[in-house]
Amino acid sequence: MNVRLDWSSRPGRPLHGNVRVPGDKSVSHRALMLAAIAEGESRIRGFLEGEDTRATAAVLAQLGVRIDTPSAGERVVHGVGLHGLRGTAQSLDCGNAGTGMRLLTGLLAGQAFDSTLVGDASLSKRPMRRVTDPLALMGARIDTHDGLPPLHVHGGQPLQGIRYELPVASAQVKSALLLAGLYAAGETEVVEPHPTRDYTERMLAAFGWPIAFAPGRAKLGGGHVLHATDVEVPADFSSAAFFLVAASIVPGAELRLPAVGLNPRRTGLLQALRLMGADITVEHEREAGGEPVGDLVVRHAPLHGVELPEALVPDMIDEFPALFIAAAVAGGTTVIRGAAELRVKESDRIATMASGLRTLGAAIEETPDGAIIHGGRLGGGTVESHLDHRIAMSFAVAGLVATGPVRINDCSHVATSFPGFLELANGCGFALHGVG
Ligand code: S3P
Repeated sequence: MNVRLDWSSRPGRPLHGNVRVPGDKSVSHRALMLAAIAEGESRIRGFLEGEDTRATAAVLAQLGVRIDTPSAGERVVHGVGLHGLRGTAQSLDCGNAGTGMRLLTGLLAGQAFDSTLVGDASLSKRPMRRVTDPLALMGARIDTHDGLPPLHVHGGQPLQGIRYELPVASAQVKSALLLAGLYAAGETEVVEPHPTRDYTERMLAAFGWPIAFAPGRAKLGGGHVLHATDVEVPADFSSAAFFLVAASIVPGAELRLPAVGLNPRRTGLLQALRLMGADITVEHEREAGGEPVGDLVVRHAPLHGVELPEALVPDMIDEFPALFIAAAVAGGTTVIRGAAELRVKESDRIATMASGLRTLGAAIEETPDGAIIHGGRLGGGTVESHLDHRIAMSFAVAGLVATGPVRINDCSHVATSFPGFLELANGCGFALHGVG
């Protein structure tokens, strides 16, 4: 249970220094799951010590997987093999993690035993039919509560591979189907309306599972073996995003963010901010653990509003709360369209950002699939996080340039993806304090 913690954010010093953000959430979840069902011992370095990824580790431990923690940010997973997981009568608690729950649903659909997946108040409101419907087409039996968690996954159901065209671009749904496909007879093929992050595909290949994939499609067959391998997790671009916006909007700021993951399916915000006039350069681009990484250097620059190209939306799906702040203080108007998926994230991110920004005096119109944001000055006020980590961190950034203190109610969920945000932020010049 999270203890409620409110924050107050005010203008601080001009932001300066090196900001080392934690490991990637998507990669950490997948590394745990694949290592768990691999043959042999895998070491994960750069693992995100967040509540979401720890919840996934705890679920896998409940299913009989030994996971050691030799040091913070490191896990050694003793794989049990494809058919080595053991059922439990206890509920499996995914906490706040949509990625954890949706991917585990795919993995558990192919097991011989029943499982029950539960989540916190925010996760319990998130749509699950997007995974349970296609899994049912493969032969899985999964009970939902009107499409919502808890999920009861029936074991012992023979799965058959399918070709599935995703109605909505979603890496979680794609990954759930690929994980079920490991246990299915025949081939499982997933086709996406827009390419999404391909970590599951890349990692399956790294663990030795034959898989064909290209942007927007992936295909694998059942009946192979995963071989343990070491995984190096890059720093999470989505966590870096708050600092990219913060340094862009604070006069005199200059931050360096080392070794950030730059998978092109994640870096849409970089392009969006550059379209708005941001000064962000990438240095020392290299490969680490099979992923592109680089050091990001961001300096203050005056931002102007843009009509955001819709093609960027899937590549920056988690970065919209931060972008809303940039748009609210930019010169001119920013128009966001084609982003209806924001309504089913950890909160309805269009509604929560619009209402919080309005409280701070911004002129913003909500639309069904986006928003029209008229840039200007932000004032102080009290906003709600709605149990959404990215909403809380985005308003902490807003406080840097607001004319009065910004109080953000209930920021405990920041620990799901970004433990240590407050300390790291204050270390480079934020004035962010726990209150209440
Ligand atoms: C994720 C996919 C995205 C993203 C989420 C992580 C993943 O969700 O928003 O934070 O790790 O696959 P959707 O699949 O719902 O787009």
